[in-house]
Amino acid sequence: MQDTSEPLLVLTPGLGAVATTFIAGVEAVRRGISSPIGSLTQLQTIRLGPRSAERNPLIKDFLPLADLDQLVMEAWDPIPENALQAARRARVLDSSDLDPVAEFLAEIRPLPAVFDQNYVRRLEGTNVKKLERKREQAEALREDIRNLKAKHRTSRAVMIWCGSTEIHLEPSTCHQDLDAFEEGLDRNDPAISPSQLYAYAAIQEGVPYANGAPNLSADFPALEDLARQKTVPIAGKDFKTGQTLLKTVLAPAFKARMLGIDGWFSTNILGNRDGAVLDDPDSFRSKEVSKSGVLDTILQPELYPDLFANLYHKVRINYYPPRGDEKEGWDNIDIFGWLGYKMQIKVDFLCRDSILAAPLVLDLALLLDLAQRCGESGIQEWLSFFFKSPQVYPSHVAEHDLFIQHFRLKNTLRRLGGAEVVTHLAEDPPGS
Ligand SMILES: NC(=O)c1ccc[n+]([C@@H]2O[C@H](COP(=O)([O-])OP(=O)(O)OC[C@H]3O[C@@H](n4cnc5c(N)ncnc54)[C@H](O)[C@@H]3O)[C@@H](O)[C@H]2O)c1
Repeated sequence: MQDTSEPLLVLTPGLGAVATTFIAGVEAVRRGISSPIGSLTQLQTIRLGPRSAERNPLIKDFLPLADLDQLVMEAWDPIPENALQAARRARVLDSSDLDPVAEFLAEIRPLPAVFDQNYVRRLEGTNVKKLERKREQAEALREDIRNLKAKHRTSRAVMIWCGSTEIHLEPSTCHQDLDAFEEGLDRNDPAISPSQLYAYAAIQEGVPYANGAPNLSADFPALEDLARQKTVPIAGKDFKTGQTLLKTVLAPAFKARMLGIDGWFSTNILGNRDGAVLDDPDSFRSKEVSKSGVLDTILQPELYPDLFANLYHKVRINYYPPRGDEKEGWDNIDIFGWLGYKMQIKVDFLCRDSILAAPLVLDLALLLDLAQRCGESGIQEWLSFFFKSPQVYPSHVAEHDLFIQHFRLKNTLRRLGGAEVVTHLAEDPPGS
């Protein structure tokens, strides 16, 4: 493994609600005025060996993860507000939490973004690079990355897309291999969105990349191949936070007990800027595809047609400004049991979107950096745990069940740390 003493530069395209909640939270934890609740890397233990051995170190003590004191943050955003202004506007954290870290946040000013309103229609920004050609934009992002590494005297960086959800794009010919993608850059192919340019720039600069939004970004062969060539880990996509987190807990339970499902209606009201962006049907389409995919792979209706083949799954997202970041995710689940008798389950999750997403940014930053230092490259399927729409190799099936994802994540961490994987088979009987 490489040198672990350098700072870890965490780059976020997007300095909105999620990114500022992450940055403010890390600083509050560093100052000892808050605790990193929701972060697996900071709080969770990992069992090593049989249960009876009682070896359960914290993950961060078992693995050489970057320490929070080593993190430095930089961002791009088409809106020129610094992190303090952006955090105040996002209204996620109270003044009592922002005031103690205000000076620190005010120093984080976004670099001019590569931004194009054709891909995020409900947003206008002035802090934008004045470059017309996609090739030039990608090169400018690469230069930014090099300059930021030099500024912070480090070779170690990760990039997590915390930008708005772009419109839904299907992979096209320019996404099939690197030559086609680079030709696409040269002729300004409209199939290449800004988030793809950030992903390309990151991978070219040897920087691991994760996509926290549901849009197409690094999840196509051209960038997946480039990531392998450059020994860069990548992961995606769309942070698994509120409603989908619960869906991927409940659905495996119904399946495990062989209870059938007739319908699952999920609706959301949210009033933050993310909600405003998702009010555009093309951005909503990206989210809808990401949120809708989870049930089929968990329930396997092809194996259990009597239980799940007629499942009607509907997902709605409604922009409702009075709620701000305090989303309400409401689920009605129509299930049936013994002899077909019907039952209903209602879940009403009054959550806070960015409070759930911020620790995932931290965990992904630390784990992608670890993966790179362990020589991992390309798609990191073991990070599926963090995503609504896990990025996997084309011949693989995405795993959505939270507990299987968690099991795989922990075993991968054991492997990266040189410990035996845990199978949960019965331990040896006493005296054997
Ligand atoms: N909060 C959650 O629980 C959650 C869960 C899953 C996914 N997400 C996704 O995370 C992303 C961020 O969410 P948020 O609540 O912080 O949204 P937000 O609107 O508060 O922040 C997004 C920021 O990205 C900026 N941006 C847009 N295009 C950009 C570009 N090309 N380059 C750089 N910056 C750009 C916007 O100006 C904005 O400041 C969204 O895509 C959202 O869908 C959030």
